[in-house]
Amino acid sequence: MRKQIAAANWKMNGSLAQGETLLNAILQEDIVMKPHQQTIFAVPFPFLIPANNRIGERTGYAVAAQNCHHKKSGAFTGEVSVEMLQSIHIPYCIIGHSERREYFAETHAQLAEKVNLLLEAGITPIFCCGEPLPVREANAQNAYVAQQLSESLFHLDAAAITRLVIAYEPIWAIGTGKTATAAQAQEMHAHIRSVLKSQYGATPAAALSILYGGSVKAANASEIFSQPDVDGGLVGGASLVATEFCTIMSSLK
Ligand code: PGA
Repeated sequence: MRKQIAAANWKMNGSLAQGETLLNAILQEDIVMKPHQQTIFAVPFPFLIPANNRIGERTGYAVAAQNCHHKKSGAFTGEVSVEMLQSIHIPYCIIGHSERREYFAETHAQLAEKVNLLLEAGITPIFCCGEPLPVREANAQNAYVAQQLSESLFHLDAAAITRLVIAYEPIWAIGTGKTATAAQAQEMHAHIRSVLKSQYGATPAAALSILYGGSVKAANASEIFSQPDVDGGLVGGASLVATEFCTIMSSLK
């Protein structure tokens, strides 16, 4: 079975003490991750080391960075390199979140560079894609997402592409309380899988985990996750509330 993943995206929220309280509250519930399940906490950079230490060897739990720089190293004041993440044993890194694409003008080409550096470092990229509202309203979302995938990922070979996690996050559903219906999520996830299939063949396409993101919460997680091509979620707002996120974790297939 494909990995089923509950990924918390804390974004730029809270102090270290608040983060520790949140993580402790979730960990003390001792929710057992089955071998095909994984919980990931994408925490702000300064919290990566303490969060990683707190999680320790706990099976099925890991931390992620929320971003990395697209160049290997050098004079990029304020940026964090993949090498730095590797040196502190970070197993996952979100890239291409719509907030990064929109507010920091990240390009397809930069994301391709990030993917390469992360894979080289043995860090799993969680690659975000998803369309803005006008594209959805024009019913052009399938071509839009296919282009995001092809421009940043399709230089990879089949062995490399299966090392990624993809997160489909329609921008109109992020932080808006407006969730895609389970049927809309399934439709896009099936589309993403078919795009991957035509590029790489059936086996890699079937092996990749595709998460849904955009106003996932305790009340809708199990319906969304129950869709055949949805392999869990990337969760923003609801991941900051321990009880909400615990229910989301328990909603994984
Ligand atoms: P949200 O954010 O759950 O608050 O909509 C999701 C995300 O941006 O990853």
